[in-house]
Formats: sequence, C-alpha cells, structure tokens
Amino acid sequence: MMPWPLNTLLLGLLAASTFAAAADAPVAVVEAKIDGNALYQTNCASCHGADRLGLNGPALLPGNLERLRRPEAIKTIAEGRIATQMPGFSDKLNAAEVKALTDLIYTPLASTPVWGLKEMQASRIAHQTNKLPDTPVFTADPLNLFIVVELGDHHATILDGDKFEPITRFATRYALHGGPKFSPDGRYVYFASRDGWVAKYDIWNLTLISEIRVGINTRNLAISSDGRYAMIANYLPHSMVVLDTQDLRPVKIIDVKDDSGKSSRVSAVYDAAPRNSFIAALKDIPEVWEFSYTDKNGTPSFQPRRIQLDDYVDDFFFDGSYTHLIGSSRGGVGQVIDLNAGKRITTVALPGMPHLGSGITWAYQGKPVLATPNLKEGVVTVVDMTNWQIEKQIPTLGPGFFMRSHENTPYAWVDVFNGTKDRDVIQIIDKQKLEVIAQLRPSPGKVAAHTEFSRDGKYALVSIWENDGELVIYDAKTLQVVKRLPMKKPSGKYNVFNKITRSAGTSH
Ligand code: HEC
Repeated sequence: MMPWPLNTLLLGLLAASTFAAAADAPVAVVEAKIDGNALYQTNCASCHGADRLGLNGPALLPGNLERLRRPEAIKTIAEGRIATQMPGFSDKLNAAEVKALTDLIYTPLASTPVWGLKEMQASRIAHQTNKLPDTPVFTADPLNLFIVVELGDHHATILDGDKFEPITRFATRYALHGGPKFSPDGRYVYFASRDGWVAKYDIWNLTLISEIRVGINTRNLAISSDGRYAMIANYLPHSMVVLDTQDLRPVKIIDVKDDSGKSSRVSAVYDAAPRNSFIAALKDIPEVWEFSYTDKNGTPSFQPRRIQLDDYVDDFFFDGSYTHLIGSSRGGVGQVIDLNAGKRITTVALPGMPHLGSGITWAYQGKPVLATPNLKEGVVTVVDMTNWQIEKQIPTLGPGFFMRSHENTPYAWVDVFNGTKDRDVIQIIDKQKLEVIAQLRPSPGKVAAHTEFSRDGKYALVSIWENDGELVIYDAKTLQVVKRLPMKKPSGKYNVFNKITRSAGTSH
C-alpha cells in the first residue's frame, strides 16, 4: 500500500496554486526546491545526529547502509518501524521529500568525519565499576553456553547449551557486526556494532560492564589470547583501535596508510593466538598487517609489521599452526601467505568467490584439508593443505555462506544462503567421503543459515533467518530435530568452549 496518496494530492494542489501565480513554471522547479539537508535537520537530526553519525538512532551514511536497499530505506522513512523509535513520516513528508532524504543518506559526507581519541573518550560509558563475583550466577556449564545474536530486534540471548533454555536476553547496540569474541576464560563477551560501538559484557554476572564508540563504521573486533587487548578494524575512519579490555579505554589508534600516504579501510582483524599477534587485512592497500602483543616490559608498541603483497586480501583464514594465511583476492584466486617469511608462497585457483572467512579444516586421509563454501557458485572446495592443490569440488544446491563442523562429528554442515532457490536447505557433507550425504529442510520455505555445534559436538544449532525466526536444534548424529526456540532473526550463535579452544570446525 502506498502511504502518501494524500500528500501527493496536497503537493499537487500546492503546486497548482504556485503555478497559477508564477505563470508556467515547470514541475522540475518545484522538485529542485526540495532541500534534503534542511528536511533532515528538521526531522531526523534529533535522533540520527546533525552530522548523520547517529545518536539514539543509527548512523545514516552510505557505508553503514550497505545492507539496506534503497526501496527499504524509502519504506522505513515513510512508514517507520514497528516497535522501535523510528517514526513514519508519510503524514509529514511527500514522496519527493522522502526521495530527497533517501538521496541524502546515501551521499557520503563532504569531508571524512573525525573520530579520534577525544571522541572515543567522550563516548565511553562505565555501566558497572564495582567488582563482581568470580562465580557464575547460574548453574549451567559456563563453557557450554551459546551467545545468540538476534539481529531482528538487536538483542542477544545467552543459551544453556545442555538444556537449550535461554538464561537471559538483553538489548545490544544497533546491528552487531563480525561476531562476538570471548575472553580466554570465557567469562566476558565483547561485541562490535556496525556503527562502531564496542561493548564488554560479563556473562557470569549477566551484566553489561562498559561501552565505547571506536569508529563510525566498523567491521569486527579481535581479543588477544592473553585477554588484555581488543583490536578493532574500521571502515570509517580508516583506522584500527586498540582497547584495554579491563575498562575499554583506548590504548592506541593506528591510522592505516601506505608509504605514499594513501589510506585504507580495514576488512577484518583476527587474533593469531600461537603467534601472540593480531593480523589484519586491508581493503584498499595490498598489504596484511601483523601486530605483536607480547611485550614483557609493559604496553606493546602496536607498530604494524607490514607484509606487502601483489594482490589485495579480502577475506582470510589461518592454517592450524597459524603459519599460513589463506586469503581470497579480488580476482577469485586464493593467496597462500607464509606469515613467518612475510610473503606469498603460492596461489590456489578458487573458482567463483570462496568465503574463506567461513572456511574450516579437518584431517582427510591423514592430511589436513581446508573446505570453503562459495558465495557465487554451488560448490564446496576442498584444498589439500600440504601442497595447496584442490582435492575435490563438492557440488551443492547453490552458493553458500557458512560452513561448520566439530572434531566429534563426521559431518560438515553448509547452507545455501546465497542461492536463488533452495535457501531453506542445509546440506550435510561426509568429511571422509567428500560428498553430500543428506539434506535438511529445518523450516520449509524459510532461509536456513549458520550452524554451530555444542561443546561436545553432539548437537547442531541452525538459524531460521527471519524476523520471527527460530533456532532449530538437531541431534548431530541422527539428524533429527530435538528442539525449536523462537528467536528474532538469529544471525549467529557462538559456543563459548568451541570459540575459546579454537575448534577446527568453526571460525575464530
Ligand atoms: C525519534 C527518533 C527518530 C527520528 C526522529 C528519526 N529516526 Fe530514523 N531511526 C530511529 C531508530 C531508533 C532507528 C532504528 C530502528 C530499528 O531498530 O530498526 C531508525 C532507523 C532508520 C533507518 C534505517 C537504518 C538502517 O540501518 O536500517 C533509516 C533509513 C532512518 N531511520 C531514516 C530516518 C530519516 C530520514 C529520518 C527523518 C525524516 C528519521 N529516520 C527520523 C529513530 C529516529
């Protein structure tokens, strides 16, 4: 239903009377008079910020709105969003005005906004400063919990991984991004949001500890294996930020630039625990940066060790020893980078667009293999990691996104998330036969994605990716459904034990 027939009519009447006075002025003149910026300041700035960087409403900048299609933006502005503070404007603004506002929010700011130490410090909120008990306030196994991120209404649920009962559910910042990360003991979980907010949450006490905004558009965060530091990868500004995990105070801000002064967005940062370092891939400079955090004499310098490459690394993945980084380039080639030697040692022909960020490894015929779903083609590619040759291309129903397994199961689970059909299917691959042996339809007609295993690998949890979605819990052996839990677009779920022990079946 179009929400503005009355307004359009009124505009028509207004325009008609204007025309009567101003002779034959063409309609275009009326349209050109719409000042999107003025409309924005009057109607939107109070919630989204005069600079569009966000306040209690999210940031409205092209990078941040990457996942929001224009028609959806128009609908949001006209109709608002039910059960949120976003009001509808169809009774105030006509279609042309809504379009002008939409054009405005997809236009970059005239100059890159500053988000430095001062802005970060001013944003920091210490929600809890008292020392809290060092024992969980619940009886569930604290290592077999799942954090479920519910993007539908921006909440997170802590789920008991034995009983599959929610322990608590709390509001998060708008649009979490990149997967939450745990402290090494599994007590704290850290979240990063699309708009640059980092939060520290005490799982044992079910309490939010502190928050800080470290960027305007953020990709993800990593936690050092000693638990002391968080490192954040930003798209905007072109920076990386190191925080002290104790209280989320900034330790260092790194401007990301090459020798010529060209700056770059940062695609992602991960912890490379055996190396005691963070590794980051740059989006606009063909380099990978490593930041060591072992400094026995105090604060590490966080000076990047720059590995210069011939090609960009978009999405990446480590081998079991963290000696090699396998990254996808823009041209659909896998680059194998020896992190010790600091150079590319070989390439792997990976057709389509492999999603290496979701790659997993296992032992096949006594050798390590890596398997990656493909964002463009209906195939899972299995690569022999001893010689970097393709072992097998396993045909699937369509392009996938997430692939998961566990040390205690013979199967790997892959979705058809990027397909044009069969998006409701999860396919089960036998890790020794290297073929699809079963196919599940957890909720026919509804998109199924992102599997994660329980601590012992006995259960697999699959998301039904809808606003009124659910978690479907399977017995990983019999492939029978054991439970269904309603959730608001449960985009991902993260098992404490599997993450902190860096299980080979999941991303880290
Ligand atoms: C009273 C506060 C408020 C006002 C005024 C307001 N918004 Fe919003 N807006 C919000 C909130 C809160 C959200 C997040 C809604 C949600 O949780 O989905 C939002 C979401 C949006 C989104 C979706 C962003 C995304 O990433 O999906 C757009 C687009 C948007 N607003 C545009 C506007 C425009 C344009 C105006 C002015 C005409 C405006 N808003 C006025 C509070 C407000």
